[in-house]
Amino acid sequence: MEFINVALPKGRLGEKVYAMFEKSGYGCPSIKENNRKLIFENAEAGVRYFWVKPSDVAIYVERGAADIGVAGKDILLEYSPDVYELLDLKIGKCRMAVAAKKDFRDNTSETLRVATKFSNIAQKFYNEKCRDIDIIHLNGSIEIAPILGLSDVIVDIVETGKTLYENDLEPIETIVPISARLIANKSSFKFKGEKISEIAASLGKLVRENND
Ligand code: PRP
Repeated sequence: MEFINVALPKGRLGEKVYAMFEKSGYGCPSIKENNRKLIFENAEAGVRYFWVKPSDVAIYVERGAADIGVAGKDILLEYSPDVYELLDLKIGKCRMAVAAKKDFRDNTSETLRVATKFSNIAQKFYNEKCRDIDIIHLNGSIEIAPILGLSDVIVDIVETGKTLYENDLEPIETIVPISARLIANKSSFKFKGEKISEIAASLGKLVRENND
């Protein structure tokens, strides 16, 4: 039997995503064994799951190592992988936002220094405003940048706002709402389209039930 290979984002979001697959009829009991294995399969349901780093899901899917996967809209916007976006799972909800120190006042006659992990999203956002910026690409703990004077603002993910609050920063502007998306490899969608559509439809039904 042909398997559908599914890349799941390792971590808290991934647990929720897997629970949705399980509820939709694509469970894989061995996944609950909580060892350090990264690949699990259920031959009966014809699915094989891999746990990968959340920011890598789109790469696995784009290159066909996985037929489908679940990635945050932030990753899809930042890296524009050549994949189909099939469904908004409406979990992992947060927003991409600009934030700064509470006393920040924008001086538009100067280049704005923007610290972020999401350089492309930030660049596009400010290009549309015709605002001159200098991107400082960081890999984490972005909130520290304005505190230490490395940047004027940050562009980062805000979920509860707690991280900003605890670091004396405040959100200034929302760039885009974010949530988890089901994505598919383009050639898999052609050759295993029936099974992929069946999975997407079952998940879609669950999303509607959960959000009614
Ligand atoms: C994100 C983001 C913030 C935090 C926001 O980090 O970079 O630091 O979540 O959440 P809050 O508004 O609920 O405080 P994440 O946990 O995704 O890990 P990262 O540091 O690897 O980006």
